[in-house]
Amino acid sequence: MIRVASIIGGGVIGGGWAARFLLNGWDVRVFDPDPEATRKIGEVLANARRSLPGLSDVALPPEGRLSFHDSISDAVAGAAWIQESVPERLEIKHKVFAEVQAACDPQAVIGSSTSGFKPSELQQGAARPEQIVVAHPFNPVYLLPLVELVPSPANAPERIEAAKAVLQGLGMFPLHVKKEIDAHIADRMLEAVWRECLWLVKDGVATTQEIDEAIRMGFGLRWAQMGIFDTYRVAGGEAGMKHFMAQFGPCLEWPWTKLMDVPEFNDELVDLIAGQSDAQSGHMSIREMERHRDDNLVGILRALKAQGWGAGAVLAEQDARQKAGSNLEGYAEDMADVSQPIVTMRRAVPLDWTDYNGHMNESRYLQSFCDASDRFMELVGCDAEYIASGGSYFTAETHIRHLAEAHAGDLIEVRTHLLMGQGKKMHLFHTMYRGDEPVATGEHMLIHVSLETRRPSPPSDRIEANMARIVEAHAKLPRPEGVGRFIGAPR
Ligand SMILES: NC(=O)c1ccc[n+]([C@@H]2O[C@H](COP(=O)([O-])OP(=O)(O)OC[C@H]3O[C@@H](n4cnc5c(N)ncnc54)[C@H](O)[C@@H]3O)[C@@H](O)[C@H]2O)c1
Repeated sequence: MIRVASIIGGGVIGGGWAARFLLNGWDVRVFDPDPEATRKIGEVLANARRSLPGLSDVALPPEGRLSFHDSISDAVAGAAWIQESVPERLEIKHKVFAEVQAACDPQAVIGSSTSGFKPSELQQGAARPEQIVVAHPFNPVYLLPLVELVPSPANAPERIEAAKAVLQGLGMFPLHVKKEIDAHIADRMLEAVWRECLWLVKDGVATTQEIDEAIRMGFGLRWAQMGIFDTYRVAGGEAGMKHFMAQFGPCLEWPWTKLMDVPEFNDELVDLIAGQSDAQSGHMSIREMERHRDDNLVGILRALKAQGWGAGAVLAEQDARQKAGSNLEGYAEDMADVSQPIVTMRRAVPLDWTDYNGHMNESRYLQSFCDASDRFMELVGCDAEYIASGGSYFTAETHIRHLAEAHAGDLIEVRTHLLMGQGKKMHLFHTMYRGDEPVATGEHMLIHVSLETRRPSPPSDRIEANMARIVEAHAKLPRPEGVGRFIGAPR
């Protein structure tokens, strides 16, 4: 069944909605009087196509059809969901709803992206108020799951349930806001933080950059994975939420903020918060919650490190410092002794490398051996500068053997034996150890290539010379057990 969504207003938010629907298989019909709307939506869609499909581990349905229309009445034809994302002015929204309702299916949901208006305000003067709800998303709409779904008493519960199902079908998280209020839930919090930040800048306490660092290097990471109440529950330690509130409750009366309109700190407030917190997370011990928190933080921090961004950039700098001066840096020419297999990787197994079997996932062995090969290439002279000049190695063949289980936190080390390094061929045999125990081996044939022609080519004289020296030294070692093995078939 083809599902059709109508997007009224295709700016920052409407464009994001269009992408969310299209990439989840809906046909999308857009109305926006801006002559640039086609280009703008095209650009948002290009970014969404880059990021959203790969976020999923399952292929998304075939993309829907995108069309642009000259009138609202044309754009809403056949639509089961109509999403209004016009500028935040009540009179414009009212005018749009009137035009939409004159032409749309009375059963369709009309969602409004409004950041601030209550649904009852949006519904004023509408032909069918029961059709209009707030569906407030967050930018970028195609990636962030939250939608605040805010009904008024005019909306029947069945319509809200149906709206939730549609949003879930788009991979979103509909948060049913039960009581209508200006700016809903999330923007109220953001507004409080924003106002405080404006004061801090105006009073010369901090610059905009210092405030951003205060968020992204610390509590922003905690909020991303546990929100505020569970974070403080854990901060209360074994004594939990009541203890946390007893400790920090009195601050409510101290000048810790410019926003001094605070709820009275009394037993009633403590019981209300602590009771809800128990209902939310009382089924987990604090230690258990700490472990979840740590797993999440490791995942988030490592993702940020891969982007060299924010708190992840700090981690990457620390990695570089740790590496400096270790035997994981430098070139073969500077190594007095190459008679033994060369250490090419040393690290602890991260929490997010383990799988449902409770041990390191097999893809991570390949990743470790790949890192070891990269290091070996670097030490013989195939470093970033050399690669930028047009030469590199491609891996032609790989054979991995798993000998023992590696677990999160294990310190693993790869030592590399160069079996052959001549002309365009580099034949590596990596052994991964935990202490002195071999955990896995990886045998790899790499071929030197020209990055311009993408064809095999001879390496530089320097690489040839470094490989020749190491091969000669390693030839005196016993041939590693398992070299050249085929898959062991049952006899
Ligand atoms: N920007 C955000 O971060 C954000 C987040 C959540 C919700 N919202 C809400 O989304 C809505 C849209 O905000 P935005 O940031 O996308 O604004 P925007 O200015 O980027 O887009 C508004 C679009 O509406 C079009 N438009 C104007 N009048 C129209 C009409 N009569 N019919 C159809 N289209 C019309 C404009 O040409 C423009 O393309 C607002 O209600 C806003 O509060 C914004």
